[in-house]
Amino acid sequence: MKPRIIVTGANGRLGAALVREWRAAGLNVTGFGRNELDLASGAAITERLNSEDFAALVNCAAQTNVDRCETEIDEAFTLNAEAPTIIADACRRKGARMIHISTDYVFDGAKDGAYTEDDPAIPISIYGASKRAGESGVLAATEGKALVARVSWVFGPDRPSFVDQIVKNAMEKDEVAAIADKVAVPTYTLDAAAMLKPFLFENHASGLLHLCNAGSCTWQEYGQWALDCAAEAGAALKARSVAPLKMADLKAFIARRPPNTAMSTARLTTLTGIHPRPWRDAVREYIAGRIQASKTSAQ
Ligand SMILES: NC(=O)c1ccc[n+]([C@@H]2O[C@H](COP(=O)([O-])OP(=O)(O)OC[C@H]3O[C@@H](n4cnc5c(N)ncnc54)[C@H](OP(=O)(O)O)[C@@H]3O)[C@@H](O)[C@H]2O)c1
Repeated sequence: MKPRIIVTGANGRLGAALVREWRAAGLNVTGFGRNELDLASGAAITERLNSEDFAALVNCAAQTNVDRCETEIDEAFTLNAEAPTIIADACRRKGARMIHISTDYVFDGAKDGAYTEDDPAIPISIYGASKRAGESGVLAATEGKALVARVSWVFGPDRPSFVDQIVKNAMEKDEVAAIADKVAVPTYTLDAAAMLKPFLFENHASGLLHLCNAGSCTWQEYGQWALDCAAEAGAALKARSVAPLKMADLKAFIARRPPNTAMSTARLTTLTGIHPRPWRDAVREYIAGRIQASKTSAQ
């Protein structure tokens, strides 16, 4: 029997992709959604995980609504800090590998250039602070043995994100806009699945790891490239260019967002030899696949 891997947050954008891709690669993966493992109850987490046999657990479950975290502070820390720490403790007691997914929002975004794992994490939002507390809790509970993988601007087929929304808007409206004064790196869930796989059993690296595609961009550049790729794939767009917005103009934002969270993946390359592909290549492949699928389903 192959060693069993549990993926939490299995109905989410990243978790669903890890379950599908790793199963397709022949791994023995069980996905836990909210019904199987509710992060809100620490006692239930311990009871459930104690009763399960597994060799590795990847925690993708989280409160990912950055603005909600600003008002639901207790909930944010329960789901993003306490629950992962309890999960990590259960993994340590079982001798199971733990990989915990974290975020670029642990940074304040003031750096000029790409963040490395050695840069200090100074969160400027409750979401960022709760995720940072989760990183520390997981590492403490596993005596430093867990791997904490920080991803950013996650996109993929299992749950719509910014790229899907901007293409949809451009098909329906004459004008679209996106923020031009915030920089990060998109992370394609299918690439993340491939890049994380060696860390399950072969590579026992621990501590912090930045995991995203290569390069960096503003939201406006990201959106513009998505529209360019959609047009190339034959999508009927009403809007062809993305107008710039300033973060300060977006009144709907409650939480502060870090202006620059580009992350360096040099440690990933050192550990695995993997060079993540440029974010533009990943977005092109994703958008082309989505447009083709929608044309096929419309026939
Ligand atoms: N999305 C991004 O751009 C981004 C950027 C940086 C870091 N990350 C990190 O990447 C990881 C995966 O995020 P994602 O993009 O896949 O987000 P997502 O689609 O929102 O997935 C998060 C999952 O967590 C689950 N969840 C929420 N509350 C829960 C609870 N009380 N008990 C159990 N499960 C619960 C959600 O369940 P439901 O499906 O039932 O709601 C959802 O399936 C997270 O750690 C996130 O912090 C994401």
